[in-house]
Amino acid sequence: MQSMLPNVLQPNTTDHVPVLADEVRALLALEPGHTLIDGTFGAGGHAALLAIDLHGRGKVIAIDRDPSVRPYFERFRRTAGVTARFLRGDFSIVLTQLAENGVRADALLLDLGVSSMQLDRPERGFSYATDAPLDMRMDPSADYSARELVNEADERELERIFRRYGEERFARQIARAIGRRRKQQAFERTGDLVDTIKAAIPAPARFGEGHPAKRVFQALRIAVNDELEALDAALPAAVEILRPGGRVAVISFHSLEDRIVKHAFREWARGCTCPPEFPICVCGQEPELRVLTPRPVRPSAREAALNPRAASARLRVGEKVE
Ligand SMILES: C[S@@+](CC[C@H](N)C(=O)[O-])C[C@H]1O[C@@H](n2cnc3c(N)ncnc32)[C@H](O)[C@@H]1O
Repeated sequence: MQSMLPNVLQPNTTDHVPVLADEVRALLALEPGHTLIDGTFGAGGHAALLAIDLHGRGKVIAIDRDPSVRPYFERFRRTAGVTARFLRGDFSIVLTQLAENGVRADALLLDLGVSSMQLDRPERGFSYATDAPLDMRMDPSADYSARELVNEADERELERIFRRYGEERFARQIARAIGRRRKQQAFERTGDLVDTIKAAIPAPARFGEGHPAKRVFQALRIAVNDELEALDAALPAAVEILRPGGRVAVISFHSLEDRIVKHAFREWARGCTCPPEFPICVCGQEPELRVLTPRPVRPSAREAALNPRAASARLRVGEKVE
């Protein structure tokens, strides 16, 4: 029977490939009866694998700010054999609300960034590879898209975004070129932006470091979706929501994200907040987290070769102290 869903929304076996999946599964070590919160459900690849360890007894709470993941969640709910619930929203807000409402979990996963489905659907405007409306919102109901950012942010702000979130060498040149072009005509489509970026950087730099627009597109996506702010706000709620002995796993794809996770975990593992020069602890703060990954777990050469998206992944896992 023909599905009622438009083609682009149909779950597909070639969709998003979960990154570091075996490593996440081993480190989260779910058991029957446990509750898993998947804060970045996407196509549900990680959730499906992790749910196997629940052996039909347990609960999965799936969160995603993108409503187009719902068909993937419905497929998961039908097949996972455990109680499953979908909550649409920003994980920093949803996790805070769940924690305030006394929900507790044994494992929590944040697999950051965008999914292959988001990148591959041209109408979402995440990709520099196809011409499409300039959008990049993970949540299509959000007020602010890449179109507003590119047309309205001042040149200095754009330069800062390109440099900080994209590590773009030619941030200033690109921001200026955007400023000049939008005085003539506003940016509406990804193709216009790609052309402007290409024209702004010196010819030799257009070759050899991947697509010339890759870093600017990544930077805009991080800014449009407030990705670093969401992560920063979500981590305390993630730790609060864990039961003692529960584990939180975060997969990041950018050094700025990884730094946020590393520092937060280190702080919670240290407990004491007294200045180092104090001879004894006077704050009395106990460690909240045990770090299970002193160094971030990286994908094997094989995984990185098979799935280029995995190449920059770093996994950190912490366990709430009993
Ligand atoms: C890398 S994909 C997750 C893929 C998933 N682990 C899988 O195996 O299919 C990231 C997902 O998280 C969602 N996401 C990113 N940031 C979010 C946030 N702050 N709140 C809620 N969802 C978010 C995106 O919409 C996307 O669907």
